[in-house]
Amino acid sequence: MTQPPSSPPPERGLFVAFEGGDGAGKSTQVRLLVTALTAAGRSVVVTRQPGGTELGSQIRDLLLHGGEVSPRAEALLFAADKAQHVDHLIRPALDRGEDVVTDRYTDSSIAYQGAGRDLGPDEIHRLLDWAVGGLFPDLTIVLDVPAEVGRQRRGSVHDRLEREHDEFHDRVRRHFLDLAAAAPARYLVVDGTQPPARLHTEIVTRLHGIPALAGLREASG
Ligand code: TYD
Repeated sequence: MTQPPSSPPPERGLFVAFEGGDGAGKSTQVRLLVTALTAAGRSVVVTRQPGGTELGSQIRDLLLHGGEVSPRAEALLFAADKAQHVDHLIRPALDRGEDVVTDRYTDSSIAYQGAGRDLGPDEIHRLLDWAVGGLFPDLTIVLDVPAEVGRQRRGSVHDRLEREHDEFHDRVRRHFLDLAAAAPARYLVVDGTQPPARLHTEIVTRLHGIPALAGLREASG
């Protein structure tokens, strides 16, 4: 059964996160949703994690393209990126009444570091809750694809996490689905193997459940 999404407080912008495995097609859906929201006259800040701030870009390089990083150091660096991101970009934008659409957020840490690296999803959840000062998205959209589909789509260029074996990516995938199943009002899970236009339709339809977005129209592509 489809649940109505939670609405942000009236004076605050809408906060949407896209999550999913590598190669799930998040960036296309981020672009389409931002186009649709902008066409509806809303101000939208679009960002991604890790990255999105100057410090975040440096952390991104260390995490994805640097040398060996121990699992706990990896979790703390991703958490530091999110703390900076929330303080400098996400919370100020939401407080100004702008919408924020982010490509990945806290669930990526819970799934990749908590479940993928086996550091314990609950512990990582607590770490992230502290790092982001309890700020969680109004809606998280999980683009679900099997690990082997993600691997094929990524092709031959891999960052440090993408190089992990399919079993790691399977654990990550399953954990995204568990998070969504535990809080259906705050999640939309879509089958990322479907054509992008169909996924966009599903996402816009779900957002129609938020009164301020009842008239949102799909982006043309
Ligand atoms: P992403 O920017 O989505 O990769 P790309 O730009 O190559 O598509 O994410 C980079 C990698 O970092 C990806 O494998 C997921 C991983 N990641 C974590 O492990 N934890 C996190 O908290 C985040 C935000 C990303």
